[in-house]
Amino acid sequence: MNDKPTINYGLEGIYVDESSISKVDGQNGKLWYRGYAIEELARQSNFEEVTYLLLKGRLPSRKEYDDFTKKLKERRELPGDIKDLIRKMAPTAHPMDVMRTAASMLVMFDNDPSNREGDETTEKVISLVAKLPTIAAATGRFREKKDYIPPDNNLGHSANFLYMLTGNKPNEFESKLIDLMFILHAEHSTNASTFSVLVTASTLADIYSATTTGIGTLKGPLHGGADEAALSMMNAIGDPSNTEKYIEEALEGKKRIMGFGHRVYKTYDPRAKIVRSYLEESLTKEPSDEVKRLLQIALIAEKMMIDKLGKTKGIWPNIDFFAGPLYRVLGIDSHLFTPIFVASRMSGWGAHIIEYWQNNKLVRPLEWYTGSLDLPYVPMNNR
Ligand code: CMC
Repeated sequence: MNDKPTINYGLEGIYVDESSISKVDGQNGKLWYRGYAIEELARQSNFEEVTYLLLKGRLPSRKEYDDFTKKLKERRELPGDIKDLIRKMAPTAHPMDVMRTAASMLVMFDNDPSNREGDETTEKVISLVAKLPTIAAATGRFREKKDYIPPDNNLGHSANFLYMLTGNKPNEFESKLIDLMFILHAEHSTNASTFSVLVTASTLADIYSATTTGIGTLKGPLHGGADEAALSMMNAIGDPSNTEKYIEEALEGKKRIMGFGHRVYKTYDPRAKIVRSYLEESLTKEPSDEVKRLLQIALIAEKMMIDKLGKTKGIWPNIDFFAGPLYRVLGIDSHLFTPIFVASRMSGWGAHIIEYWQNNKLVRPLEWYTGSLDLPYVPMNNR
C-alpha cells in the first residue's frame, strides 16, 4: 500500500481553478466583483448592472444597460405549466424544494438546452436570472393561497420581485433594501453551491441541470439556508433579555450559532457590515416592534460572539446573520430567504459556468480507500 496522502477534508485550502469573477480576501474582510469593491457596488450600482458586470466582465454602456434590462424584463414571465407546478407544490413543500423543481422544469421550454455555441450560454443565464425571482414570488403567493401577480415591467428587477410577492409597489427605501440583498448575494467565488454547479457543468450537462444542483446545495443550513436558520434562532430566543443565556447554553452544548463563521472570512464579512448598516438605517423609518426586537437580539448576540469566538477562533458574523431581520423589514416570510439567495446567486453561478466552459475540464477528485480488498465472495445461501 502507498502512504496515505494529505487529505483536505471539505476541500479546505484547495484551489480548483483560476477565475476573474470575484475575489474574497478572508483575512481583511474584503470582497470585489470583477475588481469593484462590494461597498461601491452596494452604494452606487443595481442588480441588473452587477449581473451584466459578472456575466460580461465589465460595466455596461448606457445602451448596453438598456438592452440588457429590456431583455431581462421580456423574460420574466413563467410558462403556465410551471405556474401550475408551483401552485401544486407550494402549499406543502419548502420553497427551496419548489424552486429546485421549477428551475429543473424550465428545461422543457428550451428547445435546445445543450447548445453551448456562441452567446447561447449567456442567453440561457439571462433567462434564468429573469425567471427565478418570478418562481420565488409565485411560490410565496401560492404558499399563502394568494393569486399569482404577473411582473410589472415598469419596475426594476428586484423591486418587481417584491411587488410580485407582496402586491405592493415598494417605496424608494424598500426598493433599495431588496436590491441591496440581490447585489450582495449575487456572487462569492467558489463556495459550495458554485462548486457544485461547476461539477455538474464540467460533465457538459446542460445549464438547467447545473442550476438545479446549485439550488440543492445552497439549501443546506451550513450554506445558504443559514439565513432562515439564523432568524429561527432569533425567534427561539424570543425576548432580547434571553439572548445571553441562550447563546451561553448553545455554545456550552457545542451547538453552532447560525449566521456566524465562514470557511474563508476570518474576520467580519464585509456584506454583513453593509446589511447591518442598512438595518440601523431602517430603525429611523418607524420599524415594526418585531424588527426592533430582532435587531436588539442580533446586536447582543453579535457582541457576545465576537467577544467569545471572534478574536480567539476567527468566528465572526456572516451575511446570513443580519439578512433575516432585514428581510423582515420588508415583511418577507423566512421560508423565502434562501429562494431570494438563489434568485440573486444565479448571476454568479452563470458567470462561473460561462468562464468554466471556456476551458472545460471534468471534475474528478480522488478519495483514499480505507476498505478491504479481494474478499472471498460467499453465495447468499451460505451467509
Ligand atoms: N457557532 C459556533 N461554533 C462554530 C461556528 C458557529 N457558527 N462555526 C464554526 N464553529 C466552530 C466549530 O464548532 C469548530 O470548533 P472546534 O474546532 O472546537 O471543533 C470550529 O469553529 C471550526 O469549525 P468548522 O466547521 O470546522 O469550520 P468550517 O470552515 O468548516 O466552517 C461554517 C464554516 C460556515 C460551516 C461554520 O462556520 C458554520 O457552521 N457556521 C454556521 C452556519 C452559517 O452561518 N453558514 C453560512 C456561511 S456564509 C454564507 C454562505 O456562504 O452560505
